[in-house]
Amino acid sequence: MNITIVGTGYVGLVSGTCLADLGHSVHCVDINEEKVTLMKNGQVPIYEPQLEEVFLRNIKGGRLFFTTDLSEAMRVSNVIFLALPTPPGEDGSADLSYVLEVAGQIGDLMTEYTLIVNKSTVPVGTSEKVYNLIKSKTQIPFDVVSNPEFLREGYAVEDFMNPERVIVGASSQKAFEIMDKIYLSLTNAGAKMIKMDEKSSELTKYASNSFLATKITFMNEIANYCEKVGADVDKVRLGMGSDQRIGNRFLFPGVGYGGSCFPKDVKALIKSGKEVGYTFEILESVEEVNQRQKTILVPEVEKYLGNLKNKQIAIWGLAFKENTDDIREASSLEIIEMLLNKGAKIRAYDSIAVKNVKKILGNKIEYAINMYECIEGADALIIVTEWGEFRNPHFDILEKKMNNKAIFDGRNLYNLDELQIHGFYYKSIGRKL
Ligand code: UGA
Repeated sequence: MNITIVGTGYVGLVSGTCLADLGHSVHCVDINEEKVTLMKNGQVPIYEPQLEEVFLRNIKGGRLFFTTDLSEAMRVSNVIFLALPTPPGEDGSADLSYVLEVAGQIGDLMTEYTLIVNKSTVPVGTSEKVYNLIKSKTQIPFDVVSNPEFLREGYAVEDFMNPERVIVGASSQKAFEIMDKIYLSLTNAGAKMIKMDEKSSELTKYASNSFLATKITFMNEIANYCEKVGADVDKVRLGMGSDQRIGNRFLFPGVGYGGSCFPKDVKALIKSGKEVGYTFEILESVEEVNQRQKTILVPEVEKYLGNLKNKQIAIWGLAFKENTDDIREASSLEIIEMLLNKGAKIRAYDSIAVKNVKKILGNKIEYAINMYECIEGADALIIVTEWGEFRNPHFDILEKKMNNKAIFDGRNLYNLDELQIHGFYYKSIGRKL
């Protein structure tokens, strides 16, 4: 099939590249000329494992194209995926201006039946808004479908190619049939396609992300309580997770959730609820608890070191999670800000996300070129991101280079006994000291 993808951000680029890999001919449209030129030259503008290989394979195979011109793409394809940003406005609601702007252009440019597929995370009722807008511009038949994405950063290609489910919300048989064709090779390989109306589909996305954010936050509260009563959250997690109704994924406590999705979607669902007179009390608490959890280790460092003025603090990990360069809503930024306000000196290390942090923090902190340079002369080490390279450090190097043998681990990476053998002060989340 010939498919157009509008928006080559994270979702658009991964979806476009993967759809091309399923054998479709895909035209990716973006208004950013610089980015389009870059991609035409075979460069991937974001960091995402496996993406480059699939991207280059499909450019070479003549199935993946880039342009700034929507009309050019629409001349060869009548299925248009929208993968546009829906950033949170000041009040937390999703800003639909990009989606509606492009929908209006599609309405003006359409010359034959067109299927508009919305992949962006949009509030319930957006498909209807897009439909009404296009309807006001054209007599030509079209359908609008909701097809939310469930890609995790760092695993996006894998998630696209092996989905647990493909959600399709539509109200015409023709639209469902086209969606069947688009995803045929995935459903043939066993992926489940769940069909529903547009509003239920739009809400499935918000409900899924908000539920996962709640699951993590619940575990963070259990972890905090474990510390008060001397229980071990790792054991509790294993015990709980063995119940299939609970499941063992997304039960890892830590320094709160971040990223471009959970915080934004939880806020947007709260806001959409308010608009129809419904208060999501659980989600309001989730937000509040998560905010507190992000900096929960700072008072612990203070308890150990006393006044933090001029204390040298090492930070391992800046990205909001491993395998990404994304620092949006990352706990690292809040921890660093709090430490700087207390007069601490900071040296941070992250092999991938450092360039993004430099853009925000500039020379307010030092940046190490590797994890061991980072801890030289440190009074304490705080681990914020669970990058693989932090999982098995040479503790003898840490012992030699650090000023104090103190680790504050926001990701519970180490075995308590091992740290005890090395004589570290080791504070993790929800486990014994
Ligand atoms: C999330 C969802 O997992 C995807 O299904 C969804 O498509 C995506 O949002 C989106 O809406 O686009 P992502 O934000 O990439 O994906 O990251 P996750 O792996 O879900 O992690 C989110 C946050 O939760 C991270 O800060 C992570 O460290 C934290 N987390 C995750 C925990 O603290 N504990 C856990 O057990 C799991």
